[in-house]
Amino acid sequence: LTVTTAGTLVTGAPGQADARPGKSRSVAVSAAPKPGSPGLGDPYFPDYGNGGYDVDHYDVRLRYEPATDRLSGTTTILATATQDLSRFNLDFLLDVESVRVNGWTARFAREGVHELVVTAPRGITTGQAMTVVVTYAGVPSETLVDGYSGWTRTVDGALAVNEPESAWWWFPSNDHPLDKATWDISVSVPDGVEVISNGVQPRPPLAEAGNRMRWGWRSTKPGATYLAFLAIGQYDIVTDTAPNGQPVINAYSTTLGDRKPAARASIERTAEVVDWESGIFGPYPFEAQGGVAAPIDSLSFALETQTRPVYGPGFWRRGSNLYVVVHENAHQWFGDSVSVADWSNIWLNEGFASYAEWLWSEAQGEGTTQELFDFTYANYPADDPFWQVLPGNPGAGAVFDDAVYDRGAMTLHQLRLAVGDDAFFRILPAWTAAHRYGNGTIAQFQALAEQISGLDLDPVFTTWLFTPGRPAPAAATRTTT
Ligand code: ARG
Ligand code: ZN
Repeated sequence: LTVTTAGTLVTGAPGQADARPGKSRSVAVSAAPKPGSPGLGDPYFPDYGNGGYDVDHYDVRLRYEPATDRLSGTTTILATATQDLSRFNLDFLLDVESVRVNGWTARFAREGVHELVVTAPRGITTGQAMTVVVTYAGVPSETLVDGYSGWTRTVDGALAVNEPESAWWWFPSNDHPLDKATWDISVSVPDGVEVISNGVQPRPPLAEAGNRMRWGWRSTKPGATYLAFLAIGQYDIVTDTAPNGQPVINAYSTTLGDRKPAARASIERTAEVVDWESGIFGPYPFEAQGGVAAPIDSLSFALETQTRPVYGPGFWRRGSNLYVVVHENAHQWFGDSVSVADWSNIWLNEGFASYAEWLWSEAQGEGTTQELFDFTYANYPADDPFWQVLPGNPGAGAVFDDAVYDRGAMTLHQLRLAVGDDAFFRILPAWTAAHRYGNGTIAQFQALAEQISGLDLDPVFTTWLFTPGRPAPAAATRTTT
């Protein structure tokens, strides 16, 4: 991913902060280095992410005490400067003990809620490799932002599962989907505690001094930071091989009680669901599959954590739930591989994952997409405030509003009616191929749909995504079911 420019930063003894002003460079630079911006200009969350560098990889090495929720460790960030930097920001909340940049001790300070400002010890030039080592500790469940923590302490451990921000509570990052990276995560826990995360286990858990085990997980495909997760506690782990040859790693909290069979009857069908989705959305983008059934009384939602969604216990309350498995795994294409370029594009995630549920229903003979459209449409009377939320631009406070999901799925059905099945089922894999491991905007999706269908689709997109009020649907003449 990167070209390393060597030579300007590697002389001198490490460990001195700004030790030799004026003597730290062997090569003159034309422009004065500037601070990296504290955000990436997201219209909803302007201070999420940071400018001036691009992360390639996170190496997160932690130690966790379930008894006290104390988390400590070191994250090593491999990044590349995208400008001449005097300082740069990381997004992080826990107490930082030290920061080093390319071996040199760096000064750091807190600014705002989640900004850690790091002064580059000797300046950094455009294109230069940056190795940033942050050592830290804290009690994440007690580290609150507006009274909230994205790190949930459970009956027997913890869950780091949240959207749109989650990493703040456990590793310093460039926390915006625009900056994707791979990651290695290792966590030492008392013997008998399980640690589940994304991707694959490059090695079995290793015994450590003090009756502890160190678990390791590796994500080899670029991912957005909010899709990294940790589930720590008492889990039964079930492993298998998927039809496509990939490892399937599922984990079930031992606290699920009589919900466990329903959780298993759902999550154990992940490989089948992924196989079916691959036939519609294009090749599965990641290296492993699976699911995690979170403990009783923990999460109230499910999240499409990369390669391995995490499901709150409520999904199994009334029995099995394949629809949530379909939904979260559809996000592996729509959200995880193709990520929002900024959070105003959330429809590209939730509208598509919701429509995937309708497609699954249709494929199972449990109700056609048209029937689900009609049912959902009728479910919201014209004067329901639901119709005032715009799925194409819901606002920062409504990114997970029902309208983004339900009107979002209705929009895709209207698009399908407008372009016909043949074009519609070419648009979906073309989209995931064009933006694989990258980012996308609604405007780009509309342009691709117009290119493939040869139609002006502005009426559909404007009406269904960007106009308040309940639109008149198109007649259901063109689906073939
Ligand atoms: N993306 C998740 C889904 O599958 C929703 C996450 C909601 N996040 C939250 N903190 N409640 O729909
Ligand atoms: Zn979703």
